[in-house]
Amino acid sequence: MPFRRLPPVLRALLAQAFGFLVILALARLGLGFPPFVWVLLQATLAVWLSRGLHLEPRWLLLQAILPFLVWLLWGAPVPAWLYLGGFLALALVFGGGLVTRVPLYLASRDACDQLATLLPEGPVRFVDLGCGLGGPVAHLARARPDGQFLGVEASPFSWLVAWLRCLPLPNATIRLGSLWRVDLADRDVAYAFLSPVPMPALWAKALREMKPGSCLISHSFEIPGQSPDRTVPVKGRRGARLLVWNVR
Ligand SMILES: C[S@@+](CC[C@H](N)C(=O)[O-])C[C@H]1O[C@@H](n2cnc3c(N)ncnc32)[C@H](O)[C@@H]1O
Repeated sequence: MPFRRLPPVLRALLAQAFGFLVILALARLGLGFPPFVWVLLQATLAVWLSRGLHLEPRWLLLQAILPFLVWLLWGAPVPAWLYLGGFLALALVFGGGLVTRVPLYLASRDACDQLATLLPEGPVRFVDLGCGLGGPVAHLARARPDGQFLGVEASPFSWLVAWLRCLPLPNATIRLGSLWRVDLADRDVAYAFLSPVPMPALWAKALREMKPGSCLISHSFEIPGQSPDRTVPVKGRRGARLLVWNVR
Protein backbone atom coordinates (compact mmCIF):
# COMPACT_ATOMS: atom_id res chain seq x y z
CA MET A 1 0.00 0.00 0.00
CA PRO A 2 1.58 3.36 -1.03
CA PHE A 3 0.49 5.14 2.21
CA ARG A 4 2.61 2.69 4.23
CA ARG A 5 5.80 4.22 2.85
CA LEU A 6 4.91 7.70 4.12
CA PRO A 7 6.60 8.92 7.32
CA PRO A 8 4.42 8.19 10.41
CA VAL A 9 3.75 11.89 11.00
CA LEU A 10 2.19 12.24 7.54
CA ARG A 11 0.08 9.10 8.03
CA ALA A 12 -1.10 10.52 11.37
CA LEU A 13 -2.05 13.82 9.72
CA LEU A 14 -3.86 11.96 6.92
CA ALA A 15 -5.88 9.96 9.45
CA GLN A 16 -6.91 13.12 11.33
CA ALA A 17 -7.77 14.89 8.07
CA PHE A 18 -9.94 12.01 6.76
CA GLY A 19 -11.61 11.77 10.18
CA PHE A 20 -12.34 15.48 10.05
CA LEU A 21 -13.83 15.18 6.54
CA VAL A 22 -16.24 12.49 7.80
CA ILE A 23 -17.19 14.74 10.76
CA LEU A 24 -17.83 17.63 8.37
CA ALA A 25 -20.00 15.42 6.13
CA LEU A 26 -22.04 14.24 9.16
CA ALA A 27 -22.49 17.84 10.32
CA ARG A 28 -23.67 18.83 6.82
CA LEU A 29 -26.27 16.05 7.03
CA GLY A 30 -27.70 17.96 9.99
CA LEU A 31 -26.63 15.63 12.81
CA GLY A 32 -26.54 17.61 16.05
CA PHE A 33 -24.31 16.09 18.72
CA PRO A 34 -22.92 17.79 21.83
CA PRO A 35 -19.27 18.96 21.32
CA PHE A 36 -17.86 16.10 23.42
CA VAL A 37 -19.46 13.52 21.12
CA TRP A 38 -18.05 15.21 18.00
CA VAL A 39 -14.57 15.21 19.53
CA LEU A 40 -14.92 11.59 20.61
CA LEU A 41 -16.03 10.69 17.10
CA GLN A 42 -13.02 12.48 15.57
CA ALA A 43 -10.65 10.68 17.98
CA THR A 44 -12.27 7.29 17.25
CA LEU A 45 -12.11 7.78 13.49
CA ALA A 46 -8.50 8.99 13.65
CA VAL A 47 -7.44 5.95 15.70
CA TRP A 48 -9.32 3.55 13.44
CA LEU A 49 -7.80 5.04 10.29
CA SER A 50 -4.34 5.15 11.92
CA ARG A 51 -4.57 1.42 12.61
CA GLY A 52 -5.40 0.90 8.95
CA LEU A 53 -2.32 2.95 8.08
CA HIS A 54 -0.15 0.68 10.30
CA LEU A 55 0.83 3.30 12.85
CA GLU A 56 2.43 2.02 16.04
CA PRO A 57 0.46 1.93 19.35
CA ARG A 58 2.15 5.12 20.69
CA TRP A 59 0.88 6.98 17.63
CA LEU A 60 -2.64 5.61 18.22
CA LEU A 61 -2.52 7.06 21.74
CA LEU A 62 -1.44 10.44 20.36
CA GLN A 63 -4.16 10.31 17.74
CA ALA A 64 -6.77 9.67 20.45
CA ILE A 65 -5.54 12.53 22.66
CA LEU A 66 -5.00 15.15 19.94
CA PRO A 67 -8.69 16.04 19.21
CA PHE A 68 -9.34 16.47 22.95
CA LEU A 69 -6.27 18.72 23.29
CA VAL A 70 -7.44 20.89 20.39
CA TRP A 71 -10.92 21.06 21.95
CA LEU A 72 -9.47 22.08 25.34
CA LEU A 73 -7.28 24.79 23.80
CA TRP A 74 -10.00 26.02 21.43
CA GLY A 75 -10.85 29.57 22.48
CA ALA A 76 -8.29 29.52 25.32
CA PRO A 77 -6.65 32.94 25.73
CA VAL A 78 -3.35 31.83 24.14
CA PRO A 79 -1.86 34.30 21.60
CA ALA A 80 -1.67 32.85 18.08
CA TRP A 81 2.06 33.60 17.72
CA LEU A 82 2.76 31.19 20.59
CA TYR A 83 1.44 28.27 18.53
CA LEU A 84 3.47 29.38 15.52
CA GLY A 85 6.59 29.91 17.67
CA GLY A 86 6.19 26.48 19.29
CA PHE A 87 5.68 24.84 15.91
CA LEU A 88 8.74 26.53 14.39
CA ALA A 89 10.92 25.66 17.40
CA LEU A 90 9.85 22.00 17.25
CA ALA A 91 10.34 21.91 13.46
CA LEU A 92 13.85 23.35 13.80
CA VAL A 93 14.93 20.81 16.43
CA PHE A 94 13.03 17.71 15.34
CA GLY A 95 12.01 18.53 11.74
CA GLY A 96 14.87 16.54 10.22
CA GLY A 97 13.94 13.55 12.34
CA LEU A 98 10.32 13.56 11.21
CA VAL A 99 11.35 13.24 7.59
CA THR A 100 14.36 10.96 8.09
CA ARG A 101 12.74 8.88 10.89
CA VAL A 102 15.87 9.39 13.00
CA PRO A 103 15.23 11.32 16.22
CA LEU A 104 17.81 13.38 18.08
CA TYR A 105 19.44 11.52 20.95
CA LEU A 106 23.05 11.89 21.93
CA ALA A 107 26.01 9.56 22.36
CA SER A 108 27.21 9.38 25.97
CA ARG A 109 30.61 10.57 27.13
CA ASP A 110 31.68 6.93 27.39
CA ALA A 111 30.60 6.29 23.78
CA CYS A 112 32.80 9.22 22.67
CA ASP A 113 35.75 7.86 24.71
CA GLN A 114 35.31 4.37 23.20
CA LEU A 115 35.01 5.88 19.75
CA ALA A 116 38.38 7.58 20.25
CA THR A 117 39.98 4.21 21.03
CA LEU A 118 38.63 2.79 17.74
CA LEU A 119 40.28 5.42 15.54
CA PRO A 120 43.37 4.24 13.64
CA GLU A 121 46.80 5.74 14.31
CA GLY A 122 47.90 8.70 12.20
CA PRO A 123 46.04 11.58 10.58
CA VAL A 124 42.59 9.96 10.46
CA ARG A 125 39.69 11.36 8.40
CA PHE A 126 36.43 10.83 10.28
CA VAL A 127 32.80 11.66 9.53
CA ASP A 128 29.79 11.63 11.86
CA LEU A 129 26.77 11.00 9.60
CA GLY A 130 23.96 12.83 11.41
CA CYS A 131 26.13 14.61 13.95
CA GLY A 132 23.30 15.98 16.13
CA LEU A 133 24.67 18.65 18.47
CA GLY A 134 28.25 17.82 17.47
CA GLY A 135 29.32 16.06 20.70
CA PRO A 136 31.36 13.21 19.16
CA VAL A 137 32.97 15.46 16.51
CA ALA A 138 34.05 18.05 19.11
CA HIS A 139 35.27 15.37 21.52
CA LEU A 140 37.34 13.53 18.90
CA ALA A 141 38.71 16.72 17.32
CA ARG A 142 40.07 17.70 20.74
CA ALA A 143 41.40 14.21 21.49
CA ARG A 144 43.09 13.86 18.09
CA PRO A 145 44.50 17.19 16.84
CA ASP A 146 46.21 15.30 13.99
CA GLY A 147 42.86 14.15 12.50
CA GLN A 148 40.18 15.81 10.35
CA PHE A 149 36.65 15.55 11.75
CA LEU A 150 33.53 16.22 9.73
CA GLY A 151 29.92 16.28 10.96
CA VAL A 152 26.87 16.37 8.71
CA GLU A 153 23.44 17.26 10.09
CA ALA A 154 20.03 17.68 8.44
CA SER A 155 18.22 19.54 11.25
CA PRO A 156 18.97 23.30 11.08
CA PHE A 157 18.85 23.89 14.85
CA SER A 158 21.10 20.93 15.68
CA TRP A 159 23.45 21.94 12.88
CA LEU A 160 23.70 25.47 14.31
CA VAL A 161 24.54 24.20 17.80
CA ALA A 162 27.13 21.76 16.41
CA TRP A 163 28.61 24.44 14.15
CA LEU A 164 28.99 26.93 17.02
CA ARG A 165 30.43 24.22 19.25
CA CYS A 166 33.07 23.24 16.70
CA LEU A 167 33.87 26.78 15.57
CA PRO A 168 36.97 27.05 17.81
CA LEU A 169 38.30 23.67 16.62
CA PRO A 170 40.49 24.04 13.50
CA ASN A 171 40.29 20.33 12.63
CA ALA A 172 36.46 20.08 12.88
CA THR A 173 33.92 21.00 10.18
CA ILE A 174 30.15 20.88 10.49
CA ARG A 175 28.01 20.84 7.34
CA LEU A 176 24.26 21.35 7.00
CA GLY A 177 22.73 18.76 4.69
CA SER A 178 21.87 15.16 4.07
CA LEU A 179 24.28 12.38 5.00
CA TRP A 180 23.33 10.66 1.74
CA ARG A 181 25.08 13.44 -0.18
CA VAL A 182 28.40 13.01 1.61
CA ASP A 183 31.03 11.16 -0.40
CA LEU A 184 32.69 8.64 1.90
CA ALA A 185 35.57 7.89 -0.49
CA ASP A 186 38.09 10.00 1.45
CA ARG A 187 37.00 8.92 4.96
CA ASP A 188 38.91 6.37 7.05
CA VAL A 189 36.08 6.11 9.57
CA ALA A 190 32.37 6.77 9.06
CA TYR A 191 30.33 6.82 12.27
CA ALA A 192 26.54 6.91 12.54
CA PHE A 193 24.01 6.81 15.39
CA LEU A 194 20.75 6.66 13.45
CA SER A 195 17.97 4.04 13.66
CA PRO A 196 17.31 0.57 12.23
CA VAL A 197 15.55 2.11 9.18
CA PRO A 198 18.55 3.49 7.18
CA MET A 199 21.12 0.80 8.13
CA PRO A 200 20.84 -1.39 4.99
CA ALA A 201 21.13 1.68 2.73
CA LEU A 202 24.03 3.00 4.81
CA TRP A 203 25.91 -0.29 4.45
CA ALA A 204 25.32 -0.26 0.69
CA LYS A 205 26.67 3.31 0.55
CA ALA A 206 29.75 2.37 2.62
CA LEU A 207 30.49 -0.60 0.33
CA ARG A 208 30.05 1.56 -2.76
CA GLU A 209 32.17 4.48 -1.63
CA MET A 210 34.61 3.58 1.16
CA LYS A 211 38.04 2.27 0.35
CA PRO A 212 39.38 -1.07 1.63
CA GLY A 213 40.90 -0.67 5.10
CA SER A 214 38.37 1.95 6.21
CA CYS A 215 35.53 1.16 8.59
CA LEU A 216 31.91 1.93 9.38
CA ILE A 217 30.94 2.30 13.04
CA SER A 218 27.31 2.26 14.13
CA HIS A 219 26.17 3.27 17.58
CA SER A 220 23.82 0.48 18.68
CA PHE A 221 22.06 -0.26 15.38
CA GLU A 222 22.90 -3.41 13.47
CA ILE A 223 23.13 -3.99 9.76
CA PRO A 224 20.76 -6.85 8.94
CA GLY A 225 22.70 -9.93 7.85
CA GLN A 226 26.15 -8.41 8.50
CA SER A 227 28.02 -9.54 11.62
CA PRO A 228 30.21 -6.74 12.94
CA ASP A 229 33.99 -7.29 13.05
CA ARG A 230 34.04 -5.82 16.53
CA THR A 231 31.51 -4.90 19.21
CA VAL A 232 32.37 -2.51 22.04
CA PRO A 233 29.82 -2.09 24.86
CA VAL A 234 29.33 1.48 26.05
CA LYS A 235 27.89 2.82 29.30
CA GLY A 236 24.60 4.69 29.22
CA ARG A 237 21.49 3.23 27.59
CA ARG A 238 20.75 -0.47 28.04
CA GLY A 239 22.30 -2.43 25.18
CA ALA A 240 24.28 0.56 23.93
CA ARG A 241 27.34 -0.51 21.95
CA LEU A 242 29.58 0.44 19.09
CA LEU A 243 29.50 -1.97 16.14
CA VAL A 244 32.46 -1.89 13.77
CA TRP A 245 32.48 -3.24 10.21
CA ASN A 246 35.75 -3.23 8.29
CA VAL A 247 35.40 -2.42 4.61
CA ARG A 248 37.28 -4.98 2.54
C1 LIG B 1 20.64 9.89 17.19
S1 LIG B 1 21.24 11.45 16.65
C2 LIG B 1 22.96 11.17 16.82
C3 LIG B 1 23.77 12.42 17.08
C4 LIG B 1 25.29 12.20 17.15
N1 LIG B 1 25.78 11.54 15.97
C5 LIG B 1 25.69 11.42 18.37
O1 LIG B 1 26.18 10.30 18.20
O2 LIG B 1 25.53 11.91 19.49
C6 LIG B 1 20.95 11.28 14.90
C7 LIG B 1 21.06 12.58 14.14
O3 LIG B 1 21.08 12.27 12.75
C8 LIG B 1 20.41 13.31 12.07
N2 LIG B 1 19.99 12.78 10.77
C9 LIG B 1 19.09 11.82 10.53
N3 LIG B 1 18.99 11.58 9.22
C10 LIG B 1 19.85 12.42 8.61
C11 LIG B 1 20.21 12.65 7.25
N4 LIG B 1 19.63 11.96 6.26
N5 LIG B 1 21.16 13.56 6.99
C12 LIG B 1 21.76 14.25 7.99
N6 LIG B 1 21.44 14.09 9.28
C13 LIG B 1 20.51 13.19 9.60
C14 LIG B 1 19.24 13.65 12.99
O4 LIG B 1 18.73 14.95 12.72
C15 LIG B 1 19.91 13.54 14.35
O5 LIG B 1 20.42 14.78 14.77
